[in-house]
Amino acid sequence: MPGTVSKNDLRRAVAGRRQARSAAERAEVARDLEARVLALPEVSTARTVAAYASYPSEPGTAPLRAALRGRGVRVLLPVLLADGDLDWVVDGAAPEHLGSTAIMRADVVLCPATAVTATGARLGKGGGSYDRALARLPPSALVVALVHDDEVVEHVPVEPHDQLVDVVVSPRRTLRTGPYRA
Ligand SMILES: Nc1ncnc2c1ncn2[C@@H]1O[C@H](COP(=O)(O)OP(=O)(O)OP(=O)(O)O)[C@@H](O)[C@H]1O
Ligand SMILES: [Mg+2]
Repeated sequence: MPGTVSKNDLRRAVAGRRQARSAAERAEVARDLEARVLALPEVSTARTVAAYASYPSEPGTAPLRAALRGRGVRVLLPVLLADGDLDWVVDGAAPEHLGSTAIMRADVVLCPATAVTATGARLGKGGGSYDRALARLPPSALVVALVHDDEVVEHVPVEPHDQLVDVVVSPRRTLRTGPYRA
């Protein structure tokens, strides 16, 4: 489409900015995200939270996952399957594969995103894995995208299969973009 940035152009721009962050900045981002996510009322009552093990350049989830587990929350982590779908395992437990439908029991899903808009349009890494996983959620589930501040953008190309997120959390902002499932 003329005048619009393609999904891949946006992915490349964000990847470049992510690589440039220092270890100290990354640690601060992870702490800020921890505080903001733990402050969400839906998270304080959640029994199961689906999270992800962040790559070094992604918004960090390690302190957040540790805090959730410390509160007795069951934390699920995705495992990428050969067909691009996601299987799930329990964080900190022996790797028992729960299957792709395990996400259906998550009260909150913390999902990675490359960029999001203030209306909940989400760009991922291009596999469509989260689009497939989020489509299985019941209306009661809350989907929270974790991003850096400069990844909340004006426009993200949206296709019919793209799943919207209900909340966007970045180090300096918590945005209610939904609800899209309730
Ligand atoms: N429900 C689905 N079933 C099968 N394939 C799908 C589905 N949703 C998306 N895909 C496939 O995934 C491809 C990539 O989608 P998209 O560009 O939206 O990825 P993304 O949102 O960046 O990735 P992700 O969701 O893994 O973070 C689509 O072109 C499509 O082929
Ligand atoms: Mg998508």
